[in-house]
Amino acid sequence: MRLYDKRCEIKFITSLSDDTYHLGIVSPEISESCIPGQFLMVRVNDDYEPLLRRPFSIFRTEPKEGIVEIVFEVVGKGTKILSERRSGEFLDVLGPLGKEFKINSKNLILIGGGIGFPPLFFMADFQKSENRNVVFYYGARTKDGIFFEKELGRICNKLIITTEDGSLGEKGLITDVFIKDLETGIIRGEAEVFSCGPTAMSKEISSICKRYNLKSQVSLESVMACGTGLCQGCVVRVENAQKSEYKLVCKDGPVFDSDIIIWED
Ligand SMILES: Cc1cc2nc3c(=O)[nH]c(=O)nc-3n(C[C@H](O)[C@H](O)[C@H](O)COP(=O)(O)OP(=O)(O)OC[C@H]3O[C@@H](n4cnc5c(N)ncnc54)[C@H](O)[C@@H]3O)c2cc1C
Ligand code: FES
Repeated sequence: MRLYDKRCEIKFITSLSDDTYHLGIVSPEISESCIPGQFLMVRVNDDYEPLLRRPFSIFRTEPKEGIVEIVFEVVGKGTKILSERRSGEFLDVLGPLGKEFKINSKNLILIGGGIGFPPLFFMADFQKSENRNVVFYYGARTKDGIFFEKELGRICNKLIITTEDGSLGEKGLITDVFIKDLETGIIRGEAEVFSCGPTAMSKEISSICKRYNLKSQVSLESVMACGTGLCQGCVVRVENAQKSEYKLVCKDGPVFDSDIIIWED
């Protein structure tokens, strides 16, 4: 797959909440070639501070218009600067990067926690013409952390929302609702699980899937300097054929079979 390093015009940037933004850039090449699970490395401005690009999952593409979209939360300097950029300005963007989700089943269970939902939205959107059964579990702390609910409702066969304070959907943790559905037999047939979210959630999903004998893939996050396998700064420990080794989240992932990950406490 080709990798593009492009100077891309910002088509739109809109705020979805106090600290969450939806950004669309123009890049027909990236838009046509990226697949769900992949990410972009974005240089947030043309200065030397911050020097490094920041990684963001691809949220959606509009290949006809050549647009690639991300959704991001402001957590530090880079994302703050990015949130202040305006349409018509330009960003240096490298992508598409990383390994995608690999689908082997007709029944897909997508589990997104907080700002981990964008790559799963892309997957659901990508699958809508494939005649697969897509169930989306989407969890956040409060209703203010749930985005694109209507679109998800349209593109998925079933959408289950949970919030920790009960302000939208079922009250509780997404993992508890997922277990409940497994216990009550709502989830039937052979299904594959795909998840992305906070590490604690991903670790718990991985353990639940092992217990219920479900195949699962997880998209991991890590602080990344290069995004291309050069700096060796994004390692994750995995166990492969009973041998422990290190993999790079940017190059070997970000999507991994969750049962090979050695979750650090
Ligand atoms: C493959 C991948 C896909 C991602 N997709 C998205 C996405 O779709 N939307 C989104 O909002 N964010 C996403 N992220 C996280 C995003 O890259 C970071 O939030 C961003 O780089 C922070 O930059 P900053 O300069 O604002 O924060 P910094 O000032 O660099 O750091 C602020 C705080 O955030 C922590 N932090 C920085 N990077 C990460 C990270 N990767 N994971 C966990 N904590 C981090 C730092 O330790 C620090 O505590 C993704 C990360 C990866 C690796
Ligand atoms: S970010 Fe440099 S090797 Fe992964």
